[in-house]
Amino acid sequence: MKTAICYYSRHHGNTRKVLDAMAQRNDIDLIDVTSRVAVHLEDYDCIGFASGIYYSKFQETVLDFVRQYLPQGKDMFFVYTCGSMRKGYTKAISEIVADKDANILGEYGCRGFDTFGPFKLIGGIAKGHPSAEELQRAREFYQSICRENEGTT
Ligand SMILES: Cc1cc2nc3c(=O)[nH]c(=O)nc-3n(C[C@H](O)[C@H](O)[C@H](O)COP(=O)(O)O)c2cc1C
Repeated sequence: MKTAICYYSRHHGNTRKVLDAMAQRNDIDLIDVTSRVAVHLEDYDCIGFASGIYYSKFQETVLDFVRQYLPQGKDMFFVYTCGSMRKGYTKAISEIVADKDANILGEYGCRGFDTFGPFKLIGGIAKGHPSAEELQRAREFYQSICRENEGTT
């Protein structure tokens, strides 16, 4: 399976850590959505979108990237890290991919070190995250995505 994961990871590189763990033993192209390289997502069997959570959703650059570059009818998945786990962080991006007839295979989210705003005053929250266990679960999640994709092709 040829996979690309298009990501934004700025606050502490937490999301990138999760993606590096997934890509360790798998053939995954990691594409930073802020690097202005030309992308051809039609060449991939499966596409992931990944981001830290900013104001309860994926960072805007990722959302714009999806609107601009996601081809119709692709198998895809979401990955995110956040200061505190809550429901609904993938709502906005799910609405955008729905317009592209995408087949959502799953999502993986975990906590990531967060020093945004007042949290900085207390030394941040979610220290030590993503943890080794969360990185392992991310690898397992990607394996499950590969199995799902095999089932749909
Ligand atoms: C401007 C800003 C807004 C954030 N908003 C949220 C939020 O709404 N909910 C949350 O749980 N975490 C929030 N966070 C924390 C980040 O989602 C968390 O630290 C994440 O792991 C950052 O990922 P990154 O290091 O890959 O960029 C915010 C952080 C920043 C800097």
